[in-house]
Amino acid sequence: MASLAQFDEGPRPIAEGAVWLPGFALPDDRALLAAVELVTATAPFRHLETPGGLRMSVAMSNCGAVGWVSDRRGYRYDSRDPLRGAPWPAMPPPFRALARAAAAAAGYPDFDPDACLINRYRPAARLSLHQDRDEQDFSAPIVSVSLGLPAVFQFGGLKRADPVQRLPLVHGDVVVWGGASRLRFHGVLALKDGQHPLLGAQRINLTFRRAR
Ligand code: SIN
Ligand code: FE2
Repeated sequence: MASLAQFDEGPRPIAEGAVWLPGFALPDDRALLAAVELVTATAPFRHLETPGGLRMSVAMSNCGAVGWVSDRRGYRYDSRDPLRGAPWPAMPPPFRALARAAAAAAGYPDFDPDACLINRYRPAARLSLHQDRDEQDFSAPIVSVSLGLPAVFQFGGLKRADPVQRLPLVHGDVVVWGGASRLRFHGVLALKDGQHPLLGAQRINLTFRRAR
């Protein structure tokens, strides 16, 4: 039987200024994954420490002019990879092109990302509800690309206790949130075990931001 998904592939508004773009990154999946390999061959995935001293279950890397990092001193953007004491790898052209196209499709035609956080989830890895608020201003949206195993994305409100939508994101989906939704709480439920044809037992998320 044909999947219902093929009949509702268009943009799905999820809140004011926030859109789910099912399958938007699918045509570029192999190019994006090749670029992930390139970036992480230089700046490897690592489990950062939270300011409270906990090891994050999601492993991270970055590319672009600045990268998001966390340690005992707090969360911040840094132009250097603290692990290597060197600048982050440049943002690969397919990353930038996809981020800009997705932002435009969501109503943000001038997105110019300077940071891409690469998150790697293995089964059981999760990201608790948080706001993206380490950027210098909040006028640019967040563009979030999902690759590999499916995950449940939690999309909440402006207060931590607000009701949360649960979006079942799959390989190739993109979510964009900005404007009135820019500071909405969001997170990812613990990844379920599985095998993805391109990525095996992993989910990769690319989060594009304008940090500076
Ligand atoms: C993030 O909030 O940085 C990542 C979200 C995701 O993995 O979908
Ligand atoms: Fe986030």
